[in-house]
Amino acid sequence: MPSAVEEMARHTRPLQMVPRIVKENMQFDGQDLKKGQTLLILLASANHNPDVFTGPARFDIGRTPNQHIAFGYGIHNCLGAPLARVEVLIALREFLQRYPNVQLSSKPLDCLLTLRNATLKELPLMLQPTCLLGEHLFLFTKGMFIDYYTQCPLYA
Ligand code: HEM
Repeated sequence: MPSAVEEMARHTRPLQMVPRIVKENMQFDGQDLKKGQTLLILLASANHNPDVFTGPARFDIGRTPNQHIAFGYGIHNCLGAPLARVEVLIALREFLQRYPNVQLSSKPLDCLLTLRNATLKELPLMLQPTCLLGEHLFLFTKGMFIDYYTQCPLYA
């Protein structure tokens, strides 16, 4: 389970980039960087670097090692990273205990991309595919989890 949490952080790139100000004129990777310039460091890109990650586009919950930088790097490394990791771990564990038969719904997935963040607009899941008369959907939408049933007379 912990490796799944790391892969979610790497692959789903919750924070796409962080800004940095150049402190002095310098060269980096053949580029001239001038004092005062703003750089946008693409964490999402680094986390999909094929020199570091085998098959970077693949979502592999068993990926090891997984040295992503979704929580940043160095002195500004995310202070809340241990909390975020534990929160996701507990939420995932509880969710899978409650809905062990969860499957993706057939609805196509749609992404919401901004310069800074990347997220799914919603994640429709079938919680009980054995319900013959309708889909039991669990939606992650607008930052909230919504649990509802469609067309199933048992829950109408
Ligand atoms: C999945 C959830 C989270 C992600 C992906 C995330 C990501 C990041 C990243 C990439 C940075 C580095 C920013 C930079 O280098 O400029 C950062 C910094 C930071 N994060 Fe998070 N974070 C998360 C959750 C949290 C939580 C839950 C807290 C607090 C409870 C938190 C508190 C902070 C703080 C205080 C910093 C600034 C550290 C510093 O500048 O020294 N983060 N976070």
